[in-house]
Amino acid sequence: MTDTLVEVRDLKVHFPITKGVLFDRVVGHVKAVDGVDLKITKGQTYGLVGESGCGKSTLGRAILQLTPTTSGEVIYNGQDLAKLPAGRLRSMRRHLQMIFQDPMSSLDPRQNVESILVEGLQAHGIGANRDERRKIIGQTLDAVGLPGWALSRYPHEFSGGQRQRIGIARALVLGPELIVADEPVSALDVSIQAQVINLLDELQEELGLTYLVIAHDLAVVRHISDVVGVMYLGALVEEAPSDRLYREPLHPYTRALMSAVPVPDPEVEDRRERILLAGDLPSPANPPAGCRFHTRCPWAQPTRCATERPVLREIGASRVACHFAERIASGELRPHEVKVQLVRPEDEGETPGVVSAPTEPGSFV
Ligand SMILES: Nc1ncnc2c1ncn2[C@@H]1O[C@H](COP(=O)(O)OP(=O)(O)OP(=O)(O)O)[C@@H](O)[C@H]1O
Ligand code: SF4
Ligand SMILES: [Mg+2]
Repeated sequence: MTDTLVEVRDLKVHFPITKGVLFDRVVGHVKAVDGVDLKITKGQTYGLVGESGCGKSTLGRAILQLTPTTSGEVIYNGQDLAKLPAGRLRSMRRHLQMIFQDPMSSLDPRQNVESILVEGLQAHGIGANRDERRKIIGQTLDAVGLPGWALSRYPHEFSGGQRQRIGIARALVLGPELIVADEPVSALDVSIQAQVINLLDELQEELGLTYLVIAHDLAVVRHISDVVGVMYLGALVEEAPSDRLYREPLHPYTRALMSAVPVPDPEVEDRRERILLAGDLPSPANPPAGCRFHTRCPWAQPTRCATERPVLREIGASRVACHFAERIASGELRPHEVKVQLVRPEDEGETPGVVSAPTEPGSFV
């Protein structure tokens, strides 16, 4: 039996696009998150991947209620965070923390480490007095592998990896349950990335933390995640236990992402399928109708793909949003060329992009 810590139901975050000289008028919406359902299990790591601009950070921030949601629910320990009164949400915040991509810009350069860490403790009334707070801070520094002398130093005096440890300490010092780590290692040297990932792993083991780890690097997510969700234009297209997703990706978009990850074995590397995605991510202000991936999908079909939005369906232990996943997996449907149609800026808002589905039934194999 697994315990769900967070359940996201049909979550939408739409940012208004405004125009006007004197008065702003809403002329459209950026559908950054557009109907996401997922569950994060207590003590586990949910990895979220997808191209730049697909809505990963917005989803992470919306789960923590750092970005207002347009609709849907975020159930945390049985309570809908979006409906909590501001005061209750504030006191809940210590349990819901975030680690950012760029520790330099997320840490105040004028505050030394002690002051960065004590700030949160004071704000949440943690620790009865100064000595108690110092003890908590000391234990936290120890947990993230920073020496005691770090307390009197300022962020610029540390290396990138150490600064990210300060960022982790700032989240950890409040005793959180859920940590959303948004690209926690992508600003770091490759040699340091593994250290920080291992630290997150160890802390999870020791403290029973639950993570949502956002990354564009599939290798990072694979190492640390129990379950991986793949996002495309504001929605999940596939979700599966980490091993299964990497062994047997079912959605064409996941297959394309996986095909770009190098394999250490040169023989396998030479033989494996490579899928180059044509064109850019369409605008989330004007997502394609039907399957949002149909404008770039090498398996898109003349029926359904351009008109019917696929829902996430269970296929074995995976959830997949593709009408034809089983027939693609069996090899019955073969990939075809995708024609890229350039969208002129003035067309944006009117043309959802390319229709790549083959018109000839002969394209079915
Ligand atoms: N505050 C905002 N106002 C308007 N649009 C926004 C806002 N925040 C994000 N967006 C838009 O929402 C979409 C999703 O952005 P988001 O930052 O969530 O993507 P991402 O997947 O995290 O990308 P990256 O990998 O580059 O960090 C983008 O088109 C972005 O421009
Ligand atoms: S539904 Fe159609 S366009 Fe979408 S991923 Fe599946 S085959 Fe491709
Ligand atoms: Mg982001």
